[in-house]
Amino acid sequence: MKLWSKNSKNIKLTSLSHGSGCGCKMTRKDLSIVLSHLPPVADPNIIIGTATADDAAVYKIDDKRAIVQTVDFFTPIVDDPYAYGQISAANSISDIYAMGGRPLFALSIIAFPINTIPASILGEIVRGGVDKAKEAGIEIIGGHSIDDPEPKYGLTVTGVVELDKVVRNDMAEAGDALILTKPLGAGIISKAIKENKASEDDIKEVIKVMSFLNKGASEAMVESGIKAATDITGFGLLGHLYGMLKASGVGAKLKLSSIPTIKSVWNYAKKGHIPGGTKNNLEYVKGKIIWGDSITDETKYILADAQTSGGLLISCPKEKKERLIALLSKANSLAVSEIGEVVEDKENRIWIS
Ligand code: CO
Ligand code: CO
Repeated sequence: MKLWSKNSKNIKLTSLSHGSGCGCKMTRKDLSIVLSHLPPVADPNIIIGTATADDAAVYKIDDKRAIVQTVDFFTPIVDDPYAYGQISAANSISDIYAMGGRPLFALSIIAFPINTIPASILGEIVRGGVDKAKEAGIEIIGGHSIDDPEPKYGLTVTGVVELDKVVRNDMAEAGDALILTKPLGAGIISKAIKENKASEDDIKEVIKVMSFLNKGASEAMVESGIKAATDITGFGLLGHLYGMLKASGVGAKLKLSSIPTIKSVWNYAKKGHIPGGTKNNLEYVKGKIIWGDSITDETKYILADAQTSGGLLISCPKEKKERLIALLSKANSLAVSEIGEVVEDKENRIWIS
C-alpha cells in the first residue's frame, strides 16, 4: 500500500499506527502483568518505586534531593510530524512535573520506517521534540533509534526534586479539593483525526491542548506546598483519579458541571469516535463509580477518555486552594477547574453528579 508520494508533505502518519487514537497504551490489567514480574524494590534510596503506580520513579541521591526518572513514547496521534514530536515530548516531560520535579535533560526513543518514509518526516518529529524540550528548559542529549514499520517517538526524562517537595499520588486526604489543569477530550478527537473526521480547527485546538507543557501548573503546585497529584494520561480522568484514591485510601465526589472539556469533543463523542482505550478505561473503573441520574454515555466516555499529555489532577488542602488557583491562573493554565473533592471512603468509590 502506498501511503504517500515522495514529495508529499501529507503523509497520514496516524494511518501507520495500529493504536486507536490514544497512542495505544496498555490497559491497567496489562500493566499489572508487567509490574507483577518486577521484584519488590529493596534499595532504601528508592522513595517511589512500583508499589503505588506513581508517575515516575524517585531515587534519593543525598539528604536533600532525589532524581526523578520517567520514560514514555507512543505512536502518531496526529498527522503533522512536528506537532507529534511536540506532543510526545510534552507528554514525556509531564511525569516529572507531576512529581513536583524539575526536568534536567532527556534522551530520545525513536522507531521509524526509515526505508519507506522520507527522512525529512523523522526530522520534523525530532525538531518538534527538541523545540518542546527547549520550552521546558532542557536539552535532548542522546537516545536510541530503530527501524520499525510503525513510528514511535518519546523521551526518557531525568529530573530532580527536593525531598520535602515530592508530590505523590498516595497523599490525597479527605476534604481536599480536586483541581484539574487541562480540559478533557484529546483521545476522542485523536480517534476522529485517525478516521479523517476531524475539522482543521478542531485538530489545531487539540494539538494546542496536548502540546501545552504542565510546567507552569507544576511550579504553581510546588509553590503552594501541594503533597498529592498525578497527571491525566492513558487511563483518563477516572482511571488516574481512581489510581490516586486507591493509593491514598480515600474516595471522591465529582461535580460534572465543573469538569472542563474541549468543546468539540461532545460532537465527536456523539458520533461514536470512541477509542478502544477509552472503552477499556470505563470498563475498568465501572464498579467504583456511582453515577448520578441521567448521565449520558458520551459523558461517561469523556470522563474516562484516554488522554495524551493531559493536565495535572491536584489534590489540594482547602487552606491552600486560593493560593494554588491564583498561581495557576497566573501561569495561564488551560483550565483552573475545581472538579470535586476527596472524601473518606475505604472502597475508593467515585460519586459523580
Ligand atoms: Co503520569
Ligand atoms: Co507515563
